[in-house]
Amino acid sequence: MPSLDARLEAVLGLVHAHSHADIGSDHASLPIELIHRGQIVRGVIVELNSGPLLLARQNVRRAGLQDRIDVRAGDGFSPLAPGEVQSASLSGMGAQTMLGILDRAGETLPPALILQPNDSPRRVRVWALAHGYHLSAERLAEGHWTYPVLRLEQRGGPDPAYAGLPLDAALRYGPHLLGSGDPLARRQVWADIVRLSKVAAPGRPAEGDLAVAQAALSWLNR
Ligand SMILES: C[S@@+](CC[C@H](N)C(=O)[O-])C[C@H]1O[C@@H](n2cnc3c(N)ncnc32)[C@H](O)[C@@H]1O
Repeated sequence: MPSLDARLEAVLGLVHAHSHADIGSDHASLPIELIHRGQIVRGVIVELNSGPLLLARQNVRRAGLQDRIDVRAGDGFSPLAPGEVQSASLSGMGAQTMLGILDRAGETLPPALILQPNDSPRRVRVWALAHGYHLSAERLAEGHWTYPVLRLEQRGGPDPAYAGLPLDAALRYGPHLLGSGDPLARRQVWADIVRLSKVAAPGRPAEGDLAVAQAALSWLNR
């Protein structure tokens, strides 16, 4: 049975669906473990590159799950039919790659997304606000970096997660993480204040980033 690191455990913890797609799965550890733990009934893996595609096929076969996990070659959501899965995960990628995949998905985009960008979670939160997805849960996982993991759900109206929070700080650090006073989020805010205080000067981008970190700290200490 494959064991997951803290990053993929955090992703796994936010998945619950009958059918789930893992886009850019590589080793296939996540969907295999989701089936083993009974969190999904059926999985679809999509891989763009031949090496990871082969590895995913091998690992699914070794786990004896060929009848439960379908491994498909392709770009993002293109090998999926609209409505085929209730949720999808994208993990271990830069935000730019991830948002490109989401923007190309069109009608195949499922109503729930579990996203773990390696950088710029702010860009993912901004994308969610602009595309009718609410942020229903967030986690931070420790590893090589501190990894953000977001669960998004398609819903109408303004996202209540941001109500009453300073918007720029919530987009940067996460409304749920700030709201709950998450210790890793608090650590990130402090690290940013220490780092940015050394380089911030009037008119430089770091000045704005420092103001956002200070707004987050004021919120956490309110
Ligand atoms: C760094 S790996 C992450 C693997 C796994 N998701 C994880 O979190 O450990 C990124 C994977 O995404 C795949 N990938 C990148 N762009 C893709 C796309 N447009 N469609 C499908 N897979 C893609 C790559 O081939 C690679 O296997």
